[in-house]
Parts: sequence; C-alpha cells; structure tokens
Amino acid sequence: MLNVQKIREDFPILKRQVNGKPLVYFDNAATSQTPQVVIDAIVDYYSNYNANIHRGVHSLSQEATDAYEKARKKIQRHFNAKHAHEIILTSGTTHSINIVATGFTTLLSEGDEIIVSALEHHSNIVPWQMLCERTGAVLKVIPMNQEGELLMERYDQLLSEKTKLVFVNHISNALGTINPIEYIINKAHEVGAAVLIDGAQSCPHIKPDVQALDADFYVASAHKLCGPTGVGLLYGKEAWLNKLPPYQGGGEMIDQVTFEKTTYAGLPHKFEAGTPNICGVIAFGTALDYMNTIGFDAIASYEKELLDYGTQQLLQIDGLKIYGTSVNKTSVISFNIEGIHPYDIGSIVDKLGVAVRTGHHCAQPIMDFYKIPGTVRASFSFYNTKEEIDILVNSVKKAATMLR
Ligand code: ALA
Repeated sequence: MLNVQKIREDFPILKRQVNGKPLVYFDNAATSQTPQVVIDAIVDYYSNYNANIHRGVHSLSQEATDAYEKARKKIQRHFNAKHAHEIILTSGTTHSINIVATGFTTLLSEGDEIIVSALEHHSNIVPWQMLCERTGAVLKVIPMNQEGELLMERYDQLLSEKTKLVFVNHISNALGTINPIEYIINKAHEVGAAVLIDGAQSCPHIKPDVQALDADFYVASAHKLCGPTGVGLLYGKEAWLNKLPPYQGGGEMIDQVTFEKTTYAGLPHKFEAGTPNICGVIAFGTALDYMNTIGFDAIASYEKELLDYGTQQLLQIDGLKIYGTSVNKTSVISFNIEGIHPYDIGSIVDKLGVAVRTGHHCAQPIMDFYKIPGTVRASFSFYNTKEEIDILVNSVKKAATMLR
C-alpha cells in the first residue's frame, strides 16, 4: 500500500497555492510533477559536472558521459530492452515517432498499407500522413466504439500482406482506454508487419517489457514519468534500427566525414546527432529509480481506486457525461456537462485551484467521433488523493451552477 501523504512530501510543487487555493493537480496525463530527487539530480549536474559528452578527454566530460550512459542502461533495464544500444535518446515521444516515420520513407512503396487507430494523439497520426504523402502508402484506421474501445474484428479485416506497419498507443491520452496491444502486435506479426507502440500514456501506470511484448518499436517521454520535459526514448529492435536511415545529420552520428562521402556511426549514435539533453537524460534515470522504488503494481492499484472513486463521484453531478467508459482504462476521466463548454468549466475550476486540461487533447478525431468540441480531462497520479477528488467534484458543481 502506498503512503501517499509521505509521497506527497517528495513533490515541492504540491505545497503551493494557485489563485489563493491549495493546488489540486489533475493534469498528469499532460505532464507529471517532479520529485525533489529529480530536481536535485538536475541541480547536481549543472553545479558539479556540466560538460559535453563523448567529446573531451577532460574529466568533467568523462563524468558527464559516464552518467549519461549509466542513465541509458537504467532506461534499458526499465523497459527491458535486450541491448543498451537499442535505446535511442530523443527529445520525447513526438521526436521518436518522427525518427521512425521518416526512416520508413526508404522502406515503403506506393500501395503499401499502414494502420493507425482511431484513438491516437496527433503525434501518432500526422507523421504517418506525411509518410504516406512521401511514399504513396495508404493509411488505414482501426475504428472505435462508443465506449472508446478499438474494434478488433475490424482490425483483423484491415490486416493483409500489404500491411507494412501498425502504430497504436497503449493507452489513449484523451479517454484513458487501455488497448489490447499484445493482440495487435501478434496479429500484425502474422502478416509480417512491424509495430510501433506509443507508450507515452501507459508508461506512468504500467511498466512495459518490450521483449515480452515483442514490440518492434516503443516510444515514451520522461515527463510523464516524473522526469524532465524534453527527453524521451525510441526503443527499436536492433535489426529494425539498423535498417532505418539516420534522421538528422550532424556531429556524433558519423563514422568518417569527407566531402566525397560520409559514413555513419553504429547504434545508438546514428540517431543521436548534436548535443543531447544530457542533464535531462541523467534526471530521467533518477526519475525511473524513484518510480521503481514506489513500485508500479502499487501505483496501478492505488490509481484504480482513484479512478473508481472519481468516476462514482463525478457521475453524481447532474448532466455530466463521461467519454471513455471501457472497463480497461486507466486513471483518466474525460467529461462534459450538458450545455456547457469544457473550456468554461476548466477556467472556473482553475480559479478554485484545480488544474485540469480542456479541449481536444491533441486527439481531434476522437472528438469528431463523439461530435463534441472537446472535454474536461482530469488525470490522476499516485500522489493524488480522494480528498482532492472531492475538491474537483465540488468545484465542477460550482462551475455548473454558475454557468447554467
Ligand atoms: N499529450 C499530452 C496530453 O495528453 C500533452 O495532455
């Protein structure tokens, strides 16, 4: 069982007030908050061993390089990649997806098919549409139902020997639905297609095992996992990463450069041109240590309690409708109140200290499916409490009374 009051002490921001009220932070699906140990790791880096990596013979550079590579190994262990060089350090999920989508330009031909789901964030739609524009490949979509679940029988029908790639999120950022990625991966492999899993929303709740999943690519961001913004990872099976061309040219990604011809470095450096977010990567390693000390099983079961309690309490409000009602969902509640714009509710609850996200959540096709402009989204983390959910519910009630 989690000692939530003790855990809350680790997060300095949770002590602050917003608009004169104690902060109730329910925008965890956008970014998690940062524990003191991670803040300390950032301060330690800039105070004691700030240097560029892989370049200098000097001691500071060596210290920074060692810490950076140690963090890569922590990330490898956390996601259970076979090799450390299968972990490419990026600026985040969007960057990671773009590396793969751009790389596939050389691997697809006109008429090839690639499959996305109806539940995706724009970052897992637009790079693939751009890939289709470059190659003449065709984008197919796995549809969803009213509960916000993907229709697997329709997925089965979309798969064929033309399918080259399938890319889906593990958990929908807008609705919280947990998608059946094991099934999706196995079926794609039966027709010889590769699979990319967007783990941005699942990694704060579920510890993934990329080898057990047999994912070809897996992408995620540090800032959802109590780490800093501007850091993420692309896991790719070694064979796939070797097949893809580099994404950006620059320093550190080369073997030899002449004006006649340049040859590229091996993995992971081939995909890591330029000076990376050294401090951010090191702090990501610290964040993973922190999350693992708390434990993902304990996190998942506590967040389920919050989800059940929040769902039950919010549904008491007159005219409130929840979007995303699958039994397989994580601690995200997306809702609207009949006749009231989500933005208006978000603005009023903010005045009462409650941070929620409103709008289309970078998932416009989901909003189009429900024929709504957006939702109010409350997303819970392991440091939230039922008392905070009570504050949310009372704030939403007040907002509804004012706006009706
Ligand atoms: N993708 C993030 C969210 O859902 C930013 O809020």
